[in-house]
Amino acid sequence: MTVEIRPHIYQIPAQKGGSHIYLLRGANKNMLIDTGTAANFPSLEASLSELGLKVADIHFVVLTHEHFDHSGATCFFFQTAVVAAHRLAANKIELQDDFVTMIQSADASSVPFRADVWLESDTLIDLGNYRLRALHTPGHVSGCICLYEPNERLLFTGDTVLSGGTLSGIFASGSISDYMNSLERLSALKIDKLCPGHGRLSDDPEGDISRGMEYARDLFEDTKLLSETLVKGQWLDT
Ligand SMILES: [Fe+2]
Repeated sequence: MTVEIRPHIYQIPAQKGGSHIYLLRGANKNMLIDTGTAANFPSLEASLSELGLKVADIHFVVLTHEHFDHSGATCFFFQTAVVAAHRLAANKIELQDDFVTMIQSADASSVPFRADVWLESDTLIDLGNYRLRALHTPGHVSGCICLYEPNERLLFTGDTVLSGGTLSGIFASGSISDYMNSLERLSALKIDKLCPGHGRLSDDPEGDISRGMEYARDLFEDTKLLSETLVKGQWLDT
């Protein structure tokens, strides 16, 4: 069931194995944030149709990162929409780096596509009625971005922050210390609503980010302890 978060901003909830998708109907152009899996494309197409839109009515697709569950169905928009991702995600998508994207291995119905625009942090996307700022938030993987709408105080987070501060994990090319730094920077923003890639929408972004930082710090300490133990073990063996 599609949810209207703000006038002309919709969440198309996740289908099996995919992420949530967000639709922003701009003054002149329409944009998707993430596309879910290729396997779930028929459901996305049906949701768009309920809102009176066809695939060709989507002008921009912005990917929060390269993982298959967020990007697999992008191949269906690639011919007609401009596809954008952070340059560190765009590079992996272009090279079809399946070790990181998992598109070929986990989403067999997707076909290769490319990012037309390689985003940098602070790139502004102006839809007329809404303006979104891309924020590079590495950690989950190196090419993660969040999209921030300052007037509505909305933050679209992909897998960087989930409701309740749940960590979505540190995957290949990710880093716990980068993750902690990204959350620290996000904590300085004024946010009313968190729009994540998975789980529920949240009206407590401050609490989510703060809990996420706590969990990340715990994970960092655990990993540090594990590394120290392994190093000690190595010294004993030599
Ligand atoms: Fe992910």
